[in-house]
Amino acid sequence: MASLIVPDVSYHSTWLEGSAEFDGAHRDGAGGEDWSLEELRDPRSFRRFVDALVDDALPESPRKPGYVPCTYLWIVDGETFLGSLAIRHELNDWLLNEGGHIGYSVRPSGRRRGHAAKALADALPVAKELGISRVLITCDEDNAGSRATIERNGGRYEDTRNGKRRYWVDTAEQGVA
Ligand SMILES: CC(C)(COP(=O)(O)OP(=O)(O)OC[C@H]1O[C@@H](n2cnc3c(N)ncnc32)[C@H](O)[C@@H]1OP(=O)(O)O)[C@@H](O)C(=O)NCCC(=O)NCCS
Repeated sequence: MASLIVPDVSYHSTWLEGSAEFDGAHRDGAGGEDWSLEELRDPRSFRRFVDALVDDALPESPRKPGYVPCTYLWIVDGETFLGSLAIRHELNDWLLNEGGHIGYSVRPSGRRRGHAAKALADALPVAKELGISRVLITCDEDNAGSRATIERNGGRYEDTRNGKRRYWVDTAEQGVA
């Protein structure tokens, strides 16, 4: 059964295996765009990467202009890394129109087993805890898996902007714990 954890260096080898499965494709919610997979094979680099992911939740941490604080979580089953999930604490213009509060991805070998649906369900109370009462989640018009993941979690469709379907989940109304 998948659960969400704070990124942890003890997942180094399984994280590398899972990340390699994406074969260079963008990993939604994974962060660390400035690091190559090759660099992250080095345990010292991986530690710096993990520390930076965790620190990104702190408002005072340095970040690129326009970027907002973000809580990064990993989707795991026991000791196996399954995927990534990110909760952006605020919406800038781009996030409001296209990116949303929460992004996620599941490694290809772990898909179609309910992991994304469970991860999003588990992330909603975390978002609520962060003070986000209306959570925006978006997906590409043609992303059937992400669309089903959002709708299954009570997402209410608002509109489509630049090819992104935009859904809201009211954390109080949805009875999110
Ligand atoms: C989208 C993604 C996260 C789904 O992960 P997953 O763990 O396979 O999803 P789940 O097994 O939890 O499935 C959730 C729902 O989506 C449906 N689903 C999953 N993949 C699907 C697909 N390729 N086509 C149609 N439906 C799909 C499941 O049937 C399920 O629907 P149900 O609740 O009605 O039965 C995964 O395919 C992925 O990482 N894709 C690349 C990154 C991405 O698109 N991230 C989302 C960005 S918005």
